[in-house]
Amino acid sequence: MTDRKMSGGKPSGEKRSRKTKPNADNATRMLTKKVKTARGRKISSKLWLERQINDPYVQKAKELGYRSRAAFKLEELDDKFGLLSKDSLIVDLGCAPGGWMQAAFKRGARRIVGIDILPVESVPGAEILHFDFMAEDAAERLKAHLVRAPDLVMSDLASNTTGHKQTDHLKTVALVEAAAEFAMDVLKPGGHFVTKVFQGGTEEMLLKRLRDRFDFVRHAKPKSSRKGSPEIYLVAKSFRP
Ligand SMILES: C[S@@+](CC[C@H](N)C(=O)[O-])C[C@H]1O[C@@H](n2cnc3c(N)ncnc32)[C@H](O)[C@@H]1O
Repeated sequence: MTDRKMSGGKPSGEKRSRKTKPNADNATRMLTKKVKTARGRKISSKLWLERQINDPYVQKAKELGYRSRAAFKLEELDDKFGLLSKDSLIVDLGCAPGGWMQAAFKRGARRIVGIDILPVESVPGAEILHFDFMAEDAAERLKAHLVRAPDLVMSDLASNTTGHKQTDHLKTVALVEAAAEFAMDVLKPGGHFVTKVFQGGTEEMLLKRLRDRFDFVRHAKPKSSRKGSPEIYLVAKSFRP
């Protein structure tokens, strides 16, 4: 069973008189900041910059000292599914720049072992490993850093897209599968797993495996995940080893 809606419908608007009703289009136009196309700046970077500047989650992340807006996605998933618990041990796959780790510590995690191919600035309480999770010996190397079975394995792994649809799909599926296999290998009984997947959801075979091993498996799209983005999340709760 899937549940992709984390947010409810549109807020019910109050009736206003014609005179006072703001024109939403004009307001958006006035508030939306445009970025000038500087020489050498590609249209794609101009659009990215514009999106960053106008994204309320980017602003909020700055205010709260979060390294990435991704932190809000984890918070929303936790609010809805109760993934983070006090004093927990967490594995964070694809942890750079560290937003999920910051949010998890804020909600009581005791220790996090994170891994990324990119360098990550240290986060107090986290042990950050710097290697490719898809390397043959990655799971064993990572396991060597776990003092006990973790309460939560969370994966926001996303590889750079090549633009070739099938290649990108295969790369994504491989990351999700590797993360899921790792979670099912190390989680404590009753532990949870959350992973980024992409629209189209999770491969049927993997979903079946997860449903066999977890009490509860759902898809969800947090409000803070950009509407245009194909990303969704898969949440699997209460692991049965
Ligand atoms: C969307 S970002 C994660 C954001 C993070 N959750 C946060 O809150 O800051 C995805 C990360 O996955 C990492 N990644 C992708 N493929 C990887 C791999 N094979 N091994 C390790 N990290 C990988 C990328 O380097 C990138 O930092």
